[in-house]
Amino acid sequence: MNTLDRRNFANIVPDAPAPAPGRDQAEALRFMGRVRPRHARVVAVTSGKGGVGKTNLSVNLSIALAARGKRTVLVDLDLGLANADILLDATPRWNLSQALVGRKTIGEITLPAMGGIRLVPGASGVERLANLSDVERASLLSSFESLHQDADVIVFDTGAGISRNTTAFLAAADDIVVVTMPEPTAVVDAYAVIKMLSREADHGDIRLVLNQCTGREEAERYANGIAVTANKLLDAYVEKLGYIVTDPHVPQAVRARRPFLLAYPGCAASACVRSIAERLTAAAVRAPAQERPSFMRRLFTAFTGK
Ligand SMILES: Nc1ncnc2c1ncn2[C@@H]1O[C@H](COP(=O)(O)OP(=O)(O)OP(=O)(O)O)[C@@H](O)[C@H]1O
Ligand SMILES: [Mg+2]
Repeated sequence: MNTLDRRNFANIVPDAPAPAPGRDQAEALRFMGRVRPRHARVVAVTSGKGGVGKTNLSVNLSIALAARGKRTVLVDLDLGLANADILLDATPRWNLSQALVGRKTIGEITLPAMGGIRLVPGASGVERLANLSDVERASLLSSFESLHQDADVIVFDTGAGISRNTTAFLAAADDIVVVTMPEPTAVVDAYAVIKMLSREADHGDIRLVLNQCTGREEAERYANGIAVTANKLLDAYVEKLGYIVTDPHVPQAVRARRPFLLAYPGCAASACVRSIAERLTAAAVRAPAQERPSFMRRLFTAFTGK
């Protein structure tokens, strides 16, 4: 195993105390083989069409998960305009662009944010993720790996649209939350994302959220249409994770730079997000963590084919 591989297995840490000093190396290795990898649940929030509400969902879902006792890290990985920090009224000194060039580690750029979450602030330079040198990529991926050690859930707010590398990245997550709206363009674009994902081997669970609906009935109608078509034509299983109603408190909270879950906990959109968090928490991760390679290992494979 070369240095690069070992660095990408950095999240495999013992749950039990290390073997006593003095035992031989073979015994230490056998011990390492028995311990379970520590693997935070990785949730990637994405969409086909832009502006459908990914960042608002990512921020508020992270806070709802934190309220359920999950240690949550939100990573702003929007490929275009990083703005989770704006919704959280955070003024980060550093962001992913410093982590990309190896000037800072992910740990150093991570900051506490509202609602008891931690934020890894994004940068528009992240669009270079597809074009990183091997050294940059290895350094960034092993840096992300460190997040697994003290988090239960890592939520990635990703950019809209689909490219080869974005899809590979998304497919490596445990849960891929596809956000869409009850509009023909948004639905067609969501279907295109699901189609791309369904072609990726060993992809995580695809879960659908209908945002900006009039209510459950409309959300069900659109979500059923997408799920049934994906099942019939792509042989893909799409879980209906939930919906969020159109709520004037959402843009009001955006203007006030406070997540709506904190600014208006009693509003309809907040209730919807809490129920999405509840469903997500209740849904089992596809395979027990110890039986599957770490997120970073799969991501690394997705990028390099190794
Ligand atoms: N449930 C909702 N009710 C009312 N307005 C909403 C709702 N969800 C989102 N919006 C509005 O839609 C706009 C876009 O939301 P957001 O920035 O979260 O989308 P996005 O998918 O992250 O966009 P981008 O693709 O540019 O990253 C925001 O201004 C927000 O106020
Ligand atoms: Mg966004």
